[in-house]
Amino acid sequence: MNNWIAQFSDVHKCTINPPALVDGDFNGFVVVSGIAGLSASGLLQNPSIGGLPRLIQQGDVQYDDLIFKLSSMHGSTPRAILGIGGGAVIDFAKVLALCLANKDNYRDILLGNLSLCRSALPIFAVPTTAGSGSEHTRFATVFRKEKKYSVEHISLLPQAFCHIPDAIAAAPLRQIAISALDAVSHCIESFWAKSATQESRSLAIAGLSDLWPALSSAVELGINTEVAVRLQRGASLAGQAINISKTTGAHALAYRLTSKYGLPHGHAVSLMLQSVLLHINEVFRSDYNGRLRNDIDRIASVMNANDAVDMQRKISRIMNRVGLKFSYLPEPSELAFELVMAAEENRLMNHPLKWEHEEIMHAMLSVLNSPGAETDSKTF
Ligand SMILES: [Fe+2]
Repeated sequence: MNNWIAQFSDVHKCTINPPALVDGDFNGFVVVSGIAGLSASGLLQNPSIGGLPRLIQQGDVQYDDLIFKLSSMHGSTPRAILGIGGGAVIDFAKVLALCLANKDNYRDILLGNLSLCRSALPIFAVPTTAGSGSEHTRFATVFRKEKKYSVEHISLLPQAFCHIPDAIAAAPLRQIAISALDAVSHCIESFWAKSATQESRSLAIAGLSDLWPALSSAVELGINTEVAVRLQRGASLAGQAINISKTTGAHALAYRLTSKYGLPHGHAVSLMLQSVLLHINEVFRSDYNGRLRNDIDRIASVMNANDAVDMQRKISRIMNRVGLKFSYLPEPSELAFELVMAAEENRLMNHPLKWEHEEIMHAMLSVLNSPGAETDSKTF
């Protein structure tokens, strides 16, 4: 193993996977990071990385901003992209790597007009949050005018990644919870997804078994390195699970809360997950006898919950404990209608239940009108 990697692993108490793919020579790399990503990771102090060309990414990947940043690179093609930060930063590293390898037609690829493309440049991911699990997925998300575009290619799967638990532990508890709730939703949705496999279901349950107790402990007792390791491991397993199964109804409904109203992804997803759980509970009141009933029992047992409603309450309680409240401009019924109409079709097709618009809106209103959601004239 290269000396640099040995030293890096030791200093940051992390493992680079797989070590053989990162030779420690970062010449020709471009670093994509958030404002806090580099300092949280401690990589700024590393002379091989601190001096590399760097692009800052804040918030979700916006199409126009991406095009601007590409033009600022003046036609150069780096050897690889190093992404250091949360899920949106790693997504940005992925789409940048794809665009730089497809300079002639990346606009069509990003907007879904072209499915064939050349492989992206190699990506090395250093996630500084335990949430998206994007170091294990072949997807990235781009927004344009509040519309979401999913880019998918096998080469978007990072070739190597590095986990730094201390970077996760250094974040504010609210941020830790938002990221972890996203990963919890990945596990739950992956487990019940129509396209789940035996492998993805095992990964999802294993991920939830790490995430849920770790998140509860972080909220009740505070974060420490041990809890951060569990959160990171759980989020990684969740990423591997959705890389196989993809997500379902909660993610289908959530994206507009982020693209139009600016709610952080994990916050938006956990609100919609609560709505989906309440809808499932309503369906179970009838003579529903499908596989989902067993799936809910299995997920509930990991969350130490009795049923879908109890799971919803537990998620709500965690959100309240870390102050995840929001205010919104439209009336709740108007907002619920907007979210349902904007739901992402391919994620809905992967959801285990069909729903009428009125049914899911009814469940959503119970969540939007709960004490955690404040209605006043401000935006989120
Ligand atoms: Fe997510």
